Amino acid sequence: MKSTTRVVWTWAAAAVASAAVAACGGNKADSAAVDGPECRDNPPLDWDNFGKGHMDKHCNGCHSVLIPEYQRQGAPAGVDFNTYGDVLAWRERIVARGTRAVLDEPTMPPGGGPSDEELSNVLEWLDCEVAKDKTALSRGR
Ligand code: HEC
Repeated sequence: MKSTTRVVWTWAAAAVASAAVAACGGNKADSAAVDGPECRDNPPLDWDNFGKGHMDKHCNGCHSVLIPEYQRQGAPAGVDFNTYGDVLAWRERIVARGTRAVLDEPTMPPGGGPSDEELSNVLEWLDCEVAKDKTALSRGR
């Protein structure tokens, strides 16, 4: 009788533990990873056909290395988006501040500006091409 009780309790604890695991993983970043971004392959959005123009239009009025500090409107020195290398280095923060991936509305630029289409394109670019290049770089290719 005693041992039957112990078996039942062990089973119950295991069931609770696996339910807890199943309940995790509901955040936005995880579901994006599961669904995958909509990546167009013809032509893919890249720095030349999209990224440079987007960053110049919406970010580099404050975040350009060419702008003297007193005209950067508070954009921190060193947070510059003039080159593709800059974007690779800042990708996660650009996703967090300049797209709808993390927050419902982007917090950069501070006054808003990008249209719905631009916001969806910038996330596609960052999630497809930039992420791919970053992974390749980290593997030393
Ligand atoms: C009108 C000026 C202005 C524009 C335009 C602007 N920013 Fe900023 N940015 C700031 C200021 C001010 C800060 C520092 C305060 C803060 O972090 O909110 C900042 C900080 C940042 C940071 C560093 C802080 C962090 O969260 O890592 C990132 C990344 C950033 N901005 C991304 C962007 C992106 C991407 C765009 C274009 C989509 C953009 N910004 C457009 C003014 C600007």
